[in-house]
Amino acid sequence: MFSNELSIAKKIAQKAGNFLIDQRKKNKSITVEVKAINDFVTKIDKQAEDLIVESLKKTFPDYGIMAEENYSDKTIPDSLYWVIDPLDGTTNYIHNFPSYCVSIGLCENKKPVMGVIYDPTRDEMFSAQKDKGAFLNRIPINVSLIKNMKGSLIGTGFPFRNFPIIDNYLDCFSSILKKCQGIRRPGAAAIDLAYVACGRLDGFWEHGLQPWDCAAGSIIIKEAGGKVTDFQGGDDYLFSRTLIASNTLVHSEIQDIVSSSMPIKYPY
Ligand code: IPD
Ligand code: CA
Ligand code: CA
Repeated sequence: MFSNELSIAKKIAQKAGNFLIDQRKKNKSITVEVKAINDFVTKIDKQAEDLIVESLKKTFPDYGIMAEENYSDKTIPDSLYWVIDPLDGTTNYIHNFPSYCVSIGLCENKKPVMGVIYDPTRDEMFSAQKDKGAFLNRIPINVSLIKNMKGSLIGTGFPFRNFPIIDNYLDCFSSILKKCQGIRRPGAAAIDLAYVACGRLDGFWEHGLQPWDCAAGSIIIKEAGGKVTDFQGGDDYLFSRTLIASNTLVHSEIQDIVSSSMPIKYPY
């Protein structure tokens, strides 16, 4: 199932990723539009989105589209739906910091069933389809075998504009930092998730993610043997804006800390 969708999504992600790299090389500085405090978009995000959406529509005219810039309606029906972030890591992209990617997920009944994440700065294509395993550039990948947080490297995303939760976040950060070997914040959630899938990170947590940040990454992690939940351990990670991902083995340790430090109701 979804093999055709996967092979087409890979080609489109690669094309869009190469477009991002070309534009970055051509433009010394990138014109930025501010969507909200510390939330940016460039005309390149929008052009990459148009390229992806037009290509997918040509081949799959009946599938729905949710995409960050122009198709960001936050609900999706049960039919087949593409969930797209044309440029994840826009702040990095603006600063020419090499951690950004294209993320294309496909959902059925609101659950990701296929996903592709392409990092054009390293030419790394992460992909998975339901029940068929996960891959990095055609090589099968698995989550790490680290058994507890003591031996783990953990990823996160900062609350860069939801300032009312900073104190809770810092409590959580402090507790996790004391238990693991290190915390990383490269700045593109889809890449963070891909890194959990291939064992470069053992766990990850972030508040505030949108479906397009995590649709592809969550199926890739699951197919690599990992676990993805919301902060309460449930499966509403696409829409609740709370997400914990892990190699499965360290999940409960992360979740215990996150669920006890972060508020249940969020200011946005
Ligand atoms: C952002 C990145 C970042 C995460 C933010 C996302 P964008 O996506 O994934 O790592 O911390 O929550 O919004 O805006 O660059 O597509
Ligand atoms: Ca994003
Ligand atoms: Ca984006």
